[in-house]
Parts: sequence; C-alpha cells; structure tokens
Amino acid sequence: RFKIRDYLIPVRVSGLSVSYLDVTGHNGGLQGSNSSGHQKKDKEPSMASNIYEMIKSIKKPPRSVAEEIVQHVESSDQVEKIEIAGPGFINIFLSRHYAIGCLKDILLSGVKLPSLEKRLRVVVDFSSPNVAKEMHVGHLRSTIIGESLSRLLEFLGHDVVRVNHIGDWGTQFGMLIAHLQDKFPNYLKESPPINDLQEFYRESKSRFDKDEDFKKRAYQCVVKLQNFEPDHTKAWKMICNESRKEFNKLYERLDITLTEKGESYYQTRMVELVKTYADEEELAYIPNFIETDENGRKVMYGHPNDPIPLILVKSDGGYTYDTSDMATIKYRVEEEKADWIIYVTDAGQAMHFEILQNCAKKIGILDDTKVRVDHVGFGVVLGEDKKKFKTRSGETIRLADLLDEGLRRSLVKLKEKERDKVLTPEELQAAQEAVAYGCIKYADLMHNRGNDYVFSFDKMLDDKGNTAVYLLYAYTRIRSIARTARVTPQQVQEAAATVPISLDHDKEWKLAKVLIRLPEVITRVTKSLCLHQLCELTYDIATAFAEFYDNCYCLEKDSAGDIVKVNMGRILLVEATACVLRKCFDILGLKPVSRM
Ligand code: ARG
Repeated sequence: RFKIRDYLIPVRVSGLSVSYLDVTGHNGGLQGSNSSGHQKKDKEPSMASNIYEMIKSIKKPPRSVAEEIVQHVESSDQVEKIEIAGPGFINIFLSRHYAIGCLKDILLSGVKLPSLEKRLRVVVDFSSPNVAKEMHVGHLRSTIIGESLSRLLEFLGHDVVRVNHIGDWGTQFGMLIAHLQDKFPNYLKESPPINDLQEFYRESKSRFDKDEDFKKRAYQCVVKLQNFEPDHTKAWKMICNESRKEFNKLYERLDITLTEKGESYYQTRMVELVKTYADEEELAYIPNFIETDENGRKVMYGHPNDPIPLILVKSDGGYTYDTSDMATIKYRVEEEKADWIIYVTDAGQAMHFEILQNCAKKIGILDDTKVRVDHVGFGVVLGEDKKKFKTRSGETIRLADLLDEGLRRSLVKLKEKERDKVLTPEELQAAQEAVAYGCIKYADLMHNRGNDYVFSFDKMLDDKGNTAVYLLYAYTRIRSIARTARVTPQQVQEAAATVPISLDHDKEWKLAKVLIRLPEVITRVTKSLCLHQLCELTYDIATAFAEFYDNCYCLEKDSAGDIVKVNMGRILLVEATACVLRKCFDILGLKPVSRM
C-alpha cells in the first residue's frame, strides 16, 4: 500500500515495469478513490487503482515491495527523504530547498508552465448563441468555460482560434425576413428600427404558426436567402446585426474575445459537401455510408447503438444543423489545419458531437489519430428552487439583466464591507465589476462542469466560502501587505535574488507547497478540460495564505504602530503568492483589484 504524505511530484522508479509514478491526488494522497470526488466525470484513469493492480501482480508482501521501490528511486533534487512506514506505506517528502528554488523562479522570471511538446492549432468553438433567439444561461456557461479554456491553452503557448459558431442560418430566417418585409416595407432604404429582437422573433413565429400564406412565403424566403438573392441577404444581415450588437455588449462586459464564423459561413461548403458525399450517384457508390431513408432524407449513422441518424439533407432538399457541422468540421480540418477541435456546449449535445465525429471519420474527413476532438459538455443552470433557471414569471432570464443584478448586489456587498476604508469612485467601480462578473464566472467554473449547478447570488457573493469574493479579498490583503511595508516591485526583484526564503514555519511550508502545484494542475486540466480543478487549487492557495497570514507576521510594529522590522523572506513568499494567484485569476477570467 502506498501513502504519499506531503505533496508529490513525478518520481522515476527504475527497474520496475512502471517507470513513472505521477502522483496527482488532490491532497497528495493516493489511497482509495480520488479525493476530488469527480473521478468519473474527469475521465482520468485512477492512478491509485493502477498501482493496486501493479502491486497485486508482484505477489510479495507490501513492505518488501515498498523497500524495493525505495531502493530503486533515483535521487532527485525534488525529494528530501523517503521513508517506509507501517505495513508498507512510502512517505516521500518534498525538498524545501527545491520548493524555495521554485518560488524564486516565480519571482524572478514569472510563473512558468509545463513546456509544450508541440504547439497545436486549437479551434475552440464556444458561446455560439442563435441569432434572434434568446441568448440564455446555457450560452453564458459556454461563453465562460470556452473563454477560460482558450486562455489556458494560449497561456500554454498553443495557437488558439476562438470561434463563435452562431446560429445565423436555417429555416427560421425565412419567417424573420418575411416579417421584416411586412413590418418595415422600407427596409432596403433605411435601417428598420427593430428595438426588441426577441419580440420581433415572437411576432414572426406566431404568424408562421397561424398563417398558411405567410408560412409559404417564409419558405420561399429561405430558398432565396440560401441562393444569396441580394434583397434577402440584406434583410438577413440587418437581423444578424441587431443580434450581434446585443451579443457584443455582453462579451465586452465579460471581457470575452471571439471571432464570429457562424453557420452561414459554410453555406457554399455545405453545397459542396452534399455534392461530394450525398449525390444520388455517389450514394450508389458508397451505400454503406449515406443512405436515403423512407422519408426521403439523406442520412448517415454514426453511433453503433443509437438509431439517431445524422441528417445531411432533409426531404425538401434543405440542410440541417448536422449538415453545417459536417461542413464545418471538414473546413476546420482541411482549411484551418486544426490539430485539436473543442466544442463547448450543453451536455445535451454530447450525442450529436459523437455521431458527428464518427460520421466524419467514416467518410474520411477526420482522422482522429491526427486530430483530437473534444466535446466539453456542461450541465444545466438551475434556480434556487432546483428547477431550470427562469424569471419568476417563467421566462428565460435576459443575460444583460442578470449582469445588472450582479452589479447591484456586488455594490451592496462592497458597501457592507467598506467600513473605514475609503475607496475612490474609480476603485469602487473596478471592485464592483470585478466582484460581479468574477463571481458569476467563478461560480460556473468551480463546479464540475458535467453537473448541473444552482445559480445563487447569495452564495456566490459570500465572502467566506469558495467564491470569487473570497479570492479577490485574499488578493487585496496581499497587496495591502506590500503597501504597508512600502516595498516596491524593484525591491522585491532585488530581494528575490539575494534574500533567503525560509519555509520553517508549518504555515509557510504549507503555502509554498500549494503554490508550486500550478504546473501539475494545469497539466491535469489540459487533459480533463475540467476547470474546477484549477478553481480548487486557487481556493487552496487563498486558504493557505489566510492561515499563513494569521500565524506568520511579515511586519513588526512598535506600540506606536510604526514598522520596526520587515521580514523580507516572508514578503517574498507573499509576493510569490500574488504572482501565482494572478495567473490563476487570469485563466479564470477574474480581475484582481488592489483595494476593495
Ligand atoms: N448554436 C448552438 C446552440 O445554441 C450551439 C453551436 C455549437 N457549435 C457547433 N459547432 N455546433 O445550441
């Protein structure tokens, strides 16, 4: 049995069939199940169970296995000592000297991340709301998660293409255009004042459902649009523009970077795709792949146990969400030269992407030994009543209203805590936005994305739990230490090269160990694409810092309150904490403020 005490780093064990023990349990523990409790969803193999398997096959008493392992561990500057305890536990102790070196590196040359084996071109498809329809909380989740993943991958050095695959094509545009033509007959000459696009959508939908003539016209409009008829294209552009304005406001508020390349972008490629793979004649040649079903649709099957087809062409000859995704994946592989494609959508679309991927493989568009494809699915956002998150009257919540509400509440919170601090109006506004947007993002990211989560402003604005507010306060506390000590960044740099850091106090050591875990956690998140693992680390850093702060003085003051001594070694530890926290914040989309 193994028990890895202290935090662990990879250890090379030579002479055994397993040459690398990558010990990454959350608490450094390898016993039993993964302590993060999210084993299945993270798709990570259990390291512990691998080791148990290995030990079983050796057929020796655990203690002698332990002894043998210890004899074979190559010496490493990361390890202070290794001890065998009890029936066969191996305790490996991290070297303080090594940790100090890591901290100095952080101070002198910034937070370093695992080096890249190969720089990949990664297409991250996220946010992707639908034009004219409500951008709902599901899209908010996709936006937040996609942005953070993109930041993480960019931070690692990958070439990231952030794509907003908006739903800007398809049959709904027929009715929208027809309605626009009726409501604003002058639309070709002057921009129609569509104030409320959602209302406009509702009106046209209700006409579409009730009025047969309108419906017919709507269908004709779709055909004209898809043939790029100029007036229809113009009307379509106007509608998209209205939506785009709304989307962009949100992206700006949340500091999201995205390039729009919506479904419409692939229209000609869809035509090509269908010609190449689903042409009547081609059909005869590759009958195993694409078939015409009893409804006259051209379909493919991508899942062995699932009868849901991928529909390439509808019975009326029109294209679908599937067609556009197929054309899109082809474009991303062949033209964008993607090495890795990540789709960030609700978990409900997992099957769609699985089928898509399998079908793309079948017809030779995708070689998954060369291109990694991930669907990053996420659960539903629930209200505090545990039902789908809606307004009291049962409507979907407008995201702009949600952000406004966050701002309002964060101001109340800040005022509560302001006490004798006096912030300038600019500082207050910066803090208000940092808290409001930060808490919404963090509440989303800190949950295992596969699970549903309950949206609660009260919870996310609590300054005691695992929340953005707590983290942001931890950061301001760090900044206030430097301010009180009057240490300049220049002095920190100089001290980092000359002043020793001592990690003798338990709380210093605990903080140091958690700080140097960032590269390991990043490696894990890059595999699992589960950002809650990074949130856990960030929270661990903030709590370790709080314990350190309560127990270890950085400054000594005399009875008059004047500083008589500055413990520079501790200031360095505090500054290293600030560096690592800033990096975590940066990936998670939180904006640190110096005062709040
Ligand atoms: N517009 C879609 C929706 O709202 C999401 C699109 C995701 N990306 C994709 N390539 N299918 O559900």
